[in-house]
Amino acid sequence: MILSLQEQQLLKRQVAEAAVAYIQSQSVIGLGTGSTVQFALEALAQRLHEGRLYAVLGVPTSEATATAARALGIPLTTLNDNPQLALTIDGADEVDPDLNLIKGLGGALLREKMVAAASDQFLVIVDESKQVQKLGLRSPLPVEVLPFGWRTHLAPLAQLGCEPRLRLRSDGTPYVSDNGNVILDCHFPDGIHDAPALAAALDARVGVVEHGLFLGMATHVLTATLNGLYIQRRERG
Ligand code: A5P
Repeated sequence: MILSLQEQQLLKRQVAEAAVAYIQSQSVIGLGTGSTVQFALEALAQRLHEGRLYAVLGVPTSEATATAARALGIPLTTLNDNPQLALTIDGADEVDPDLNLIKGLGGALLREKMVAAASDQFLVIVDESKQVQKLGLRSPLPVEVLPFGWRTHLAPLAQLGCEPRLRLRSDGTPYVSDNGNVILDCHFPDGIHDAPALAAALDARVGVVEHGLFLGMATHVLTATLNGLYIQRRERG
């Protein structure tokens, strides 16, 4: 489904507002990263401002989200101070029919995965353009690696069936994550055939810090479509 920018913005706002309805007062929640989450931050700030929610603390998954949340007056805390979270709301770049995800086009995959893993519920908010039949066809898979020796990953990643490209900023210099690492965006021309095997291979590689495959982590996927919103649920795998 190709959406106009205006339609996409409308759907992002709708799905973000639906997710914020899951937040309860006196809770600590994870705050994801990205343009869809920005709408959730705005909706949360409004509820706090109006007193419909109170005593909600957020754990941001990126410096960008921390800055945006502070600007909106959302109180923040850290994962160290709150190692167990009630829920996290985050976007995704792709969602497959089993609710497995690709995340990390915004570069925040490591903290996003840590915060999602620490959450009882992980609510993923997307518009219908993010729904795919097979992971990797629409989006590259981001792989965060240490800057030290990053080129050593290129050939082994290519052996896994992708074309890895060092993520660059608009000025042509390497993109550096909030954690001081670089990102290899891995393009799979035919999509990802076996996501669990790929995740295991990446997890096993020294120098790979994290990757954007979020398998069996989402407990809810909320999808906004032009025909309305639908919610998929699954148990943690
Ligand atoms: C950030 O690192 C990503 O995982 C985002 O969650 C993802 O890119 C979705 O962002 P948008 O809501 O901007 O599409």
